[in-house]
Amino acid sequence: MRHNLQSRKKFAVLGASVAIGALALSGCGSQKGQGNEESGGGSSSGDGEVTIALLLPESKTTRYESLDKPNFEKYVKEANPDAKVKYSNANQDATQQQQQFEAAVTEGVDAIVLDPVDASAVSSALSKAKAKKIPVIAYDRFFKDADYYTSFDNKKIGNLQGQAVLDGLKAEDKDPKSGPVWMVNGDPKDPNAADFKAGAEETLKKGGADIAESHDALDWDPGDARQWVEGQLQTADKDPIAIYSANDGTAGGVIAATKKAKVKPVITGQDAEVDGLQNILRGDQYATIYKAIPPQAEFAAKAAVALAGGEKPEGSTTYKDTPTDFVEAKVVTKDNVKDIVGDQIKAEDICTGDVKKLCSDYGVK
Ligand code: GAL
Repeated sequence: MRHNLQSRKKFAVLGASVAIGALALSGCGSQKGQGNEESGGGSSSGDGEVTIALLLPESKTTRYESLDKPNFEKYVKEANPDAKVKYSNANQDATQQQQQFEAAVTEGVDAIVLDPVDASAVSSALSKAKAKKIPVIAYDRFFKDADYYTSFDNKKIGNLQGQAVLDGLKAEDKDPKSGPVWMVNGDPKDPNAADFKAGAEETLKKGGADIAESHDALDWDPGDARQWVEGQLQTADKDPIAIYSANDGTAGGVIAATKKAKVKPVITGQDAEVDGLQNILRGDQYATIYKAIPPQAEFAAKAAVALAGGEKPEGSTTYKDTPTDFVEAKVVTKDNVKDIVGDQIKAEDICTGDVKKLCSDYGVK
């Protein structure tokens, strides 16, 4: 492989302040299409047609279909107007995702961007891609041996979530030691869930909280979260003063369970989904985590197009030996919902029905 230092170039900083670093690239010769007999099919612009497979894990969490996919497609087009995106969603089924991955390998795509349902089950599919020299990008959830990784600092997100629980208690003048705190974590097959949990636990313990119960919601299922909390509320000696919930979907299940039992712990989430933000404005949820998806999709799109063209993205940092770019995340409570509305989250989506009035109370427009 020709390693041409002169072709080394840097891409412009992405997404302004939300992106931690710029995606740096180094040219490593043009390997486009090597071993990819079925890719492209026709060369319209001289450097061939590029196909990139985007494999996302599920569709209950709204970010994937409404933000990750369209933004990824947009930034792929921006990086290479002739490039095509072949999109698949696994609907939380690891076997289905493996088939989608293998279909992309068989088709001979030029790069695969994978957000795995089960990060521990990707290695056999990965070796098939490697055998055909198809570069693979770890998107949002890390797995070993990817050519590039882009995500958020997920342990730090856990820290932010833990702090949000403590802040929510403080806002109610409650000592974190005054009662039990429960945790509803994400899916155990998702490595991010373990990071969120570790970060939140660390911060909660530092703040003196008594983590009395902890549950992993299988498949990030809001129904699982609801059922577990309902069961716990029936048998626990003491009601919780707070329930950490790893994302807005599962927080919705927790809210349903606590409302039914007429208890009102501090509840938090993640993803700044429309439902989550509405729950925050209603006072049913204290906080969520806002993650800017466009810069993450942009990092992945540019890296995929670069890798498909034989360039190597360097990333602004390295995570477990993989070139990486991280995007910043932040806590949102009712007081700063107004600051995050814009391109990613539209006020008109949040401010409907009973939430209309709340939006004007909190300056969301
Ligand atoms: C995580 C992701 C979160 C959330 C969750 C459920 O890996 O980082 O944003 O969407 O999965 O799919």
